[in-house]
Amino acid sequence: MAGSKGEPAFLAPGQAWEHSRSAVQRKEQGQWPTPWWVVERSLDVVLKGLPDAPVILDPACGDGRWLAAVGLRIPNAKLIGWDLDPQAIAAAQSVLAGAGLKAELVCRDALAGQAAPVADLVLGNPPYIRPQNLPREKREDYWARFDVLTDKCDLYAAFVDRMIQLSRGPVAAVLGDTWLSMASYQALRDRVWAQPVEGIWMLPTGTFGARIGTLLLHIAQPGSRARGRLTRTGLEPTGTLKMCDGVLPLVDAPELPGVGVLGDQLRLRMGVVCGSYKDFVHSGPRGPSDEPTCRGKEVQRWRIEPNDEWLRYEPRVMLSARPYVAPKTRALFDVPEKLVLAGASGTLLRAAVDTQRRFPLDSCYVSQGAQDVWALCGLLNSAPANAWYGARFPKARVKAVELHQLPWPTGDLKQVAEAARAADQAGVDAAAAAAWGI
Ligand SMILES: C[S@@+](CC[C@H](N)C(=O)[O-])C[C@H]1O[C@@H](n2cnc3c(N)ncnc32)[C@H](O)[C@@H]1O
Repeated sequence: MAGSKGEPAFLAPGQAWEHSRSAVQRKEQGQWPTPWWVVERSLDVVLKGLPDAPVILDPACGDGRWLAAVGLRIPNAKLIGWDLDPQAIAAAQSVLAGAGLKAELVCRDALAGQAAPVADLVLGNPPYIRPQNLPREKREDYWARFDVLTDKCDLYAAFVDRMIQLSRGPVAAVLGDTWLSMASYQALRDRVWAQPVEGIWMLPTGTFGARIGTLLLHIAQPGSRARGRLTRTGLEPTGTLKMCDGVLPLVDAPELPGVGVLGDQLRLRMGVVCGSYKDFVHSGPRGPSDEPTCRGKEVQRWRIEPNDEWLRYEPRVMLSARPYVAPKTRALFDVPEKLVLAGASGTLLRAAVDTQRRFPLDSCYVSQGAQDVWALCGLLNSAPANAWYGARFPKARVKAVELHQLPWPTGDLKQVAEAARAADQAGVDAAAAAAWGI
């Protein structure tokens, strides 16, 4: 009988466990159970080519749902589940008993000590935990022992490494998508890429909440390196995975012919980093040192939405008040026309030309250099630039260092500038494609 969210009734103890966790506990232990349909559709893909009576391990089993689903499909499988949380293990015991299955369930840290292969398939949805949410000693221990944990990457990177070590064969893991492109995950990408990756399958947006992109990583022979989507109706392959400039784009990453790169022509610099919006940004009457400003969310393609805020631009006061401030020079902002780009807009770049001498805040980039700002605005908003950028750097934060690598077109930019002045998106797309010669 189906329970809530269309899940089988035997998962009820799991749902009770999930609801008993506070928001803090869930954040510190990465406790986000996998929707049942994701478990089922993933198993359709990953339970292939296993030996008879396989040993299946979920090293972060939560309420044991992956094991239960496997056990119902392969009755003679040996099921092993580990979890750090004793209450998760208790829930898993009830879930598996409710499903009429037996499993070896152990309360333990899956990342402790060394690991040797113990299972024919290691699967599950390992915890996503930001390093700052881990106890200090744990963090230091993990970061010292796992090569893939570099910089600010999430704990799930160590789990992928450990799952590979624990398996004699395939690995199937539901993960966030940040590791495909972010610099902190380069070591993880290299580790995974050295395996026979059978496929990476994006899950629908919203599967684990609106803001998190997730995917199923499947490591198995023959290592076809396929990519695509996994939906409620099954797999939708879209192509072959390729490592491109060190990242793993899940869409085709088009090349743009060019001479040099955007960074040779100009620099994109962040807006004013004042150190405290509370002290320097206000919406009262304009004071003597107040300058018009804007935030990244107000920067749309071709226009900046009006606001009633002022930036109290007092660089010396800013510099004396905080260690992490960068007021920059007035000459960067106080010009008749300049390009402003939203700093957090995902794979869709949003640029506008500012004609109001705004001093944008640090959620924006501002151009500095000799190029015609209208041509630049058109290029950044154009379809070719967005396809090039979005495929290589598919994440929320736009980075200047990444955009500086955009190939610079050899063709004439007058048409691009003209179409940009008219906010003519189709015209810009065509003119930019012509300028790049594609
Ligand atoms: C994202 S949940 C997934 C649970 C379950 N596999 C599922 O897909 O529904 C991650 C689980 O990892 C457990 N966990 C966190 N740190 C762990 C560790 N170091 N070792 C083992 N389990 C851990 C959490 O308690 C949580 O149950």
